[in-house]
Amino acid sequence: MNELLEKAKEISRKAYCKYSGIPVGAAALGVSGKIYTGCNVENASYGLTVCAERNAVAAAVAAGEKKLKSVAIYSPKLKECPPCGACRQVLAEFGVKYVITEEKTYKLSGLLPEAFCILSKQ
Ligand code: THU
Repeated sequence: MNELLEKAKEISRKAYCKYSGIPVGAAALGVSGKIYTGCNVENASYGLTVCAERNAVAAAVAAGEKKLKSVAIYSPKLKECPPCGACRQVLAEFGVKYVITEEKTYKLSGLLPEAFCILSKQ
């Protein structure tokens, strides 16, 4: 298992997932070479749940890193865990090219073709 996936696995143990029972961990690799991690945080008001990937991206941005290379996602409960639609859009915002899971590595351009992006037009 590669280092990014290992970090995603490690942080998945911290997930707050008392409603779904599905822990998810994510690790984002910044262009600086640093790694930022996040886990899913659920809420009694279900729609307020924040996915692991978005929490990893938030950690990167809060640390001053706004350009990311790849993100690994891991859940001990899911055989396959590609990012949800909302997270795909957030990963695109910060330049993520590859999404790594235990089963396979995806190109984000394949997961979210023709992504909405304002900055590339400026
Ligand atoms: N979840 C993530 O953390 N990432 C995704 O891309 C999809 C779903 C979380 C949200 C929720 O806490 C649990 O998985 C079940 O949907």
